[in-house]
Amino acid sequence: MPRQSVLVLDFGGQYNQLIARRVRECNVYCEVKPYTISLEEIRAFDPMGIIFTGGPNSVYDEKAPHVDPAVFTLGVPVLGICYGCQLMAQALGGEVTAAQADTAREYGKTETYYDTTCKLFHGLPEKGISWMSHGDYMAKVPEGFALVGRTEACPNVAIADEKRGFYGVQYHPEVNHTEHGVDMIRNFLYEVCGAKGEWTMGDYKNTAIAAIREKVGGGKVLLALSGGVDSSVAAALLAEAVGKQLTCVFVDHGLLRKDEGDEVEAAFSKWDLNFVRVDAETRFLLKLAGESEPERKRKIIGEEFIRVFEEEAKKIGAVDFLAQGTIYPDVIESGAGDAAVIKSHHNVGGLPDYVDFKEIIEPLRLLFKDEVRQLGRELGLPEYLVSRQPFPGPGLAIRCIGDLTKEKLDILRDADAIYRQEIAAAGEDKNINQYFAVLTNTRSVGVMGDGRTYDYTLALRAVTTSDFMTADWARIPYELLDKISTRIVNEVGGINRIVYDITSKPPATIEWE
Ligand code: XMP
Repeated sequence: MPRQSVLVLDFGGQYNQLIARRVRECNVYCEVKPYTISLEEIRAFDPMGIIFTGGPNSVYDEKAPHVDPAVFTLGVPVLGICYGCQLMAQALGGEVTAAQADTAREYGKTETYYDTTCKLFHGLPEKGISWMSHGDYMAKVPEGFALVGRTEACPNVAIADEKRGFYGVQYHPEVNHTEHGVDMIRNFLYEVCGAKGEWTMGDYKNTAIAAIREKVGGGKVLLALSGGVDSSVAAALLAEAVGKQLTCVFVDHGLLRKDEGDEVEAAFSKWDLNFVRVDAETRFLLKLAGESEPERKRKIIGEEFIRVFEEEAKKIGAVDFLAQGTIYPDVIESGAGDAAVIKSHHNVGGLPDYVDFKEIIEPLRLLFKDEVRQLGRELGLPEYLVSRQPFPGPGLAIRCIGDLTKEKLDILRDADAIYRQEIAAAGEDKNINQYFAVLTNTRSVGVMGDGRTYDYTLALRAVTTSDFMTADWARIPYELLDKISTRIVNEVGGINRIVYDITSKPPATIEWE
């Protein structure tokens, strides 16, 4: 852990991870912990500052989460956000009540006035929009606190006790709707906590490499490389750290996108590591032959993957470490609810049971996705790998509807490649979170030249989404759709009709199977 660290105490707010990401964007390391952690654990963490997140409760609720008041005696600055602000106010002798309708209850964008002599607002405009979402009101501000922010409806949307380094804001500085919100967080970190901005991916890379070398020693490391962002960056980091002691097993199941296998292999050619590319297309297609039920396809692929990986691991023999590309959002404990729940996430489900290893090593477990991408760039991985959109483990098998044949998969691969090329060339890849082609199992009649055709219908899918749980279909310009359609029908044999999927999720899912 870097020397300068901030602790984000999570009270169940929906923006807890966003706060942490903002802090790290300011080049300060931080971790999110549930509010239930003990004072001893907080001391051991040795934070240079603490941020209380928002949360769904009211501080006067019987079951409302609280914090050990001794946290205010540690001599560590605190920034309370929304619920965190009210919690601090109440704990230090203030009074919080339900706001009377139309007085101090505020939701959404609100014009806010700041006292720029307060460290939190140094160098920022005196007036700006802030994003409010609170139904409670600080009827009495604790002793020692000054009012440093107000709106038309509420005289105390920001409070500060600069002597002790305690700050509270009722709005959410971490969301983009709050003008200069990130600057306020930066002021808290730099002006109040004395941050030096030591958290950069360049520094992190060097520290992580040193730590991996120390942990691994002369041991052997095995990693299942999928070609996705996380496993690729983990592989590159380990390759940089321990070179030949690392074996990456890349299973090419024949369900990858066009040229993907070669691209992944080429990306790793600059490192001197053991790169095992297993050409398993034939055995996967044999196992999948005649199967058209989506869940069965997934299961067959998952099982066969483990089998192939197991065979390769046996050839390598006992290893000391099995590496996984687990990232921070997968391991953050949630502060919501009565009990803290830890999500455990394995990128390659089931593998640890099959492979003879002593310990798991997860070199990205403290990084957010954007940081993983940044680290990949630092390590010199090509941009197409680093900024890659999500690609499901079962690959094209779930984008080729019905039973699978090499012929159908090749048609899909060629069409999908053209689609992706054109989207990127038009710069639309910046606006779309996931896009791909689907080979439907439907044939229809067409006419090409003087002849009648009876070929496949290809569906184009493109969605915008922030979490992949819900998604909207992307409004791709008609001219671009036209260009894509013309190119695919002209250049890819076997397709004579293109449709564009205009369903959101729900009711549809992003993938077709
Ligand atoms: P759906 O289709 O459920 O997809 O809306 C949501 C996200 O998950 C990806 N996805 C998968 N990823 N194995 C994976 O590793 C799978 O079986 C799988 N199915 C869907 C999908 O690409 C989208 O990003």
